[in-house]
Amino acid sequence: LPLLGLTAVAAYMLGSVPFGIVMARMFGLGDLRQVGSGNIGATNVLRTGNKLAAFLTLLGDAGKGGAAVLLARAALGEDAAQLAGFAAFLGHCFPVFLRFKGGKGVATFLGTLLALSFPIGLAACATWAVIAAVFRISSLAALVAAALSPMAATLLGAPQAMALCVALAFLIGLRHHENINRLLKGSEPRIGKKG
Ligand code: G3P
Repeated sequence: LPLLGLTAVAAYMLGSVPFGIVMARMFGLGDLRQVGSGNIGATNVLRTGNKLAAFLTLLGDAGKGGAAVLLARAALGEDAAQLAGFAAFLGHCFPVFLRFKGGKGVATFLGTLLALSFPIGLAACATWAVIAAVFRISSLAALVAAALSPMAATLLGAPQAMALCVALAFLIGLRHHENINRLLKGSEPRIGKKG
C-alpha cells in the first residue's frame, strides 16, 4: 500500500508539469494565462499562432499521462497503472506548481488512455479528431470524446478501464463548464482562432 501511495504522489507530480506554460515560456510567447481562454493546454498555445509549441504541449501533456501509466505498470502492475493515470490527470488539472490552478485534462486523458488500453485511447483520439475536423471546436471534440470513452471501454472489451473512463469524463465535463456555456451561446471560438 505505501508503494501505491508513493506511485500516486509521483504520478501526480509528473502530471503537474504544465507543458503549455513551459513551452510558451521557451518559445517566448508570453504568459499563456493572458492568451485566449487563459487555459494552459495545447489548444490555447495554438492561439498564439505557434503550431510547434502547441504540438509539443500536446505531446508533453499526453506523454506525462502515458508515462505515468507505463512506469507504474512496469513497477507494480495494472491497478497501479490505473491509479497513476488518474493521479497524473489530477496533477494536470490541479497542479501543485501552479497553486492548483491547472488545465482541462484533455491531452493527459488521451495519453493516459492510450497507455492504459491502446484501442480505447485510439478510439478517443479518433473521436476527438472527427469532431474537431467537422466542427473545428476543440472543447466540443474533447467533451464528445470523453463522454463516449466509457462506451468505447465496453465495446472494445476493456471493462477494467470503465470506471476510470467514467471518472475522467465527469472531471473533463466539470473542467469545461466555461466552454459549455460558450458552446450553448454559440460563442466558442474555432480551433486556432483567438475567440
Ligand atoms: O484541451 C482543452 C480544450 O478542450 C479547450 O481549451 O483553451 O479552448 O478552453 P480552451
